[in-house]
Amino acid sequence: MKFFIDTANLEQIKEANDLGILDGVTTNPSLMAKEGIKGTNAIMAHYRAICELVDGPVSAEVFGTTFDEIVEEGVRLADIHENIVVKVPMIKEGIKAIKWFYENGIETNCTLVFSAGQAILAAKAGATYVSPFIGRIDDGTWDGVKLIEQIVGIYNVQGFDTEVLAASIRNPLHIVKCAEAGADVCTCPLSSILGLLNHPLTDLGLQQFLKDAKKME
Ligand code: E4P
Repeated sequence: MKFFIDTANLEQIKEANDLGILDGVTTNPSLMAKEGIKGTNAIMAHYRAICELVDGPVSAEVFGTTFDEIVEEGVRLADIHENIVVKVPMIKEGIKAIKWFYENGIETNCTLVFSAGQAILAAKAGATYVSPFIGRIDDGTWDGVKLIEQIVGIYNVQGFDTEVLAASIRNPLHIVKCAEAGADVCTCPLSSILGLLNHPLTDLGLQQFLKDAKKME
């Protein structure tokens, strides 16, 4: 399973990248706005900065909702850097645009996916990635990981090439469950990635080893 970080914060991206386990980045308009980025030039510059930090796919989301707007914006985003993946919402115009991008060699991430039916449409249109939002599904007292399992199963049976990118990760257990469910990619906040490091027995064991190591100085 590939690890993407789900943020537009350059320091957090750098920290995750320095771990040596980062395969890519996802952003969305909320995450970009949180960094105080304003205006087209600043947005473009920020994506460029992310692409310079990480050697892997970087999802940049379109703001438009019509086919023409999505295509025009997506082409501009894809021009920023070869690693940009155009993030397109799961709407009718988005599906048409994903097909257009597919036919024109531009990679896409179909976002805001909450059902297996939506994931089938995204794959049929030729999306490179499909992003089911598992945390938001759990928030509604459904089971987000079950949706990942279902989509992975359908894609395997049907032979779809679209990669299942588990999104809206809330905690380290989500990451483990998505790995079990066969997600191709998990995009996570830095806190969830770092949370994978933690175990009290590791801390206790290390304490003892360091104490014993001192005896040999
Ligand atoms: C992923 O691509 C989405 O931008 C993100 O995971 C949404 O997460 P949230 O539900 O925590 O906002």
